[in-house]
Amino acid sequence: MVNVGVIGAGYWGPNLIRNFSQTGQSKVLWCADLSDERLEYVKNLYPEIKTTKNYMDLINDPEVNAIVIATPVSTHFELAKKALENNKHVLIEKPITSISENAEELIKLAETNKLVLMVDHTFEYTPAVNKIKEILDNNELGKIFTIDMVRVNLGLFQKDINVVWDLAPHDISILLFLIGKMPSSVKAEGMAYVLEDIEDDAQITLKFDGNVRVHMHVSWLDPLKIRKTTIVGNKKMLVYDDTEKTEKVRVYDKGVTLEKNSLPKDKYYGTWEEFNIVYKSGDSNAPELDDKEPLNIMCTHFVDCINKEEKPVSDGTSGLRVVKVIEAIQESLKNQGKEVFL
Ligand SMILES: NC(=O)c1ccc[n+]([C@@H]2O[C@H](COP(=O)([O-])OP(=O)(O)OC[C@H]3O[C@@H](n4cnc5c(N)ncnc54)[C@H](O)[C@@H]3O)[C@@H](O)[C@H]2O)c1
Repeated sequence: MVNVGVIGAGYWGPNLIRNFSQTGQSKVLWCADLSDERLEYVKNLYPEIKTTKNYMDLINDPEVNAIVIATPVSTHFELAKKALENNKHVLIEKPITSISENAEELIKLAETNKLVLMVDHTFEYTPAVNKIKEILDNNELGKIFTIDMVRVNLGLFQKDINVVWDLAPHDISILLFLIGKMPSSVKAEGMAYVLEDIEDDAQITLKFDGNVRVHMHVSWLDPLKIRKTTIVGNKKMLVYDDTEKTEKVRVYDKGVTLEKNSLPKDKYYGTWEEFNIVYKSGDSNAPELDDKEPLNIMCTHFVDCINKEEKPVSDGTSGLRVVKVIEAIQESLKNQGKEVFL
C-alpha cells in the first residue's frame, strides 16, 4: 500500500484524492491546503483523511510514501523539492515547473535519492491518445503532413499564468508523446484582451524535422468548448475529438495523390496536365476505446512505478521537455512571433 499526501484541494486536487482512494494499492492519509473552506470540503467527503494548512505535516510524516502536488504552477518547484529532499516519491500536476532549470534540479534530486518523479500529463494515459499512437506507430496514416490542434473554451482565466501555460501543456505533451521527438522550432502570436499582459488567445506553429507542421490554437475566449486534433497523413487522415462521448477517434480513408497522366505528351500542354490530382474518399471508422477513467490509469501507473521501482511514462524528463517547448513559445510570443529554435 502506498500512502499518499495530497497538497492542493482546489479544482483538480479532489479528483486526485478520489482516484488515489480507488486504485486499491494506495491510500490518501493527508490533504493540505491554505484554505479552510477547501479542507472542510475534503473532510466532508473523506472524514478519515487528516487535513492541515501546513504541507510540511505531510512531508514530515514517516507513514507517507508519496506526495501529490495540485497547487498553482508557481509553487510546484518549492513543494516538490521539499518532498524529494525528504525521501518522498512525487507526482506533480502539469506543467512540472514554470522554469526548465527547476525541472532539471528536481530530476537530479529524484535520481540521487532513487525516487519516482512523475508529472500528470493526463492525456498520455487516455485510451484515445494511446490508440492514436498505435495507429501512427503502425504507419496507418502514412507520412504525416500536418497536425492541427484546437483547445478553446470560455475561461477559466488564471491570474498568474497565460493561456499557453494553462492549456498548451496538454497538447504539447500529447504531441511529444505521439511524435516522440522535440520540435525544431516554434512561432507564436497571442493577445491579452481581458487581463493586462496575460495572453488569453494564442496561435502557435511548431515545426518538426521531416516537414511536419503543427498548428495549435489555445484560447480562453471562445463560446464553445473545442478539443480537436486533426492529423493529415499521405495515406489516411485522423480526427480526435475529446468532447465526443464514445467515438473520440475516427480514421478517414481520405487523401490526395498526384498521378502521372497516361495520355501521350502531345495530348496535354505544359507541366500541369502531366499530373492528375486524385482524391480518395473512402470509408471512415472509429476504433473501439477502453472507457476507463484516464486519471485512474495515471494514478495506478504512479503507484505501480513506486512498487516496481520503474520509470513512469510521463517522468521528470518528459515534464522538462514540455516546459522547454512552452518557454520557447513564450519567447516567440513576447517577440511578435519570431521563430525560436530548440
Ligand atoms: N491534469 C489536468 O487535466 C489538470 C486540470 C486542471 C488543473 N491542473 C493542474 O492542477 C494544478 C492546480 O490547478 P487548480 O485548477 O486545481 O487550481 P486551484 O487554484 O483551483 O487550486 C489550487 C489549490 O492549491 C492551494 N494551495 C496553494 N498553495 C498552497 C500551499 N503552499 N500549500 C497548500 N495548498 C496550497 C490553494 O489554496 C488552492 O486551493 C495546476 O498545476 C494545474 O495546471 C491539471
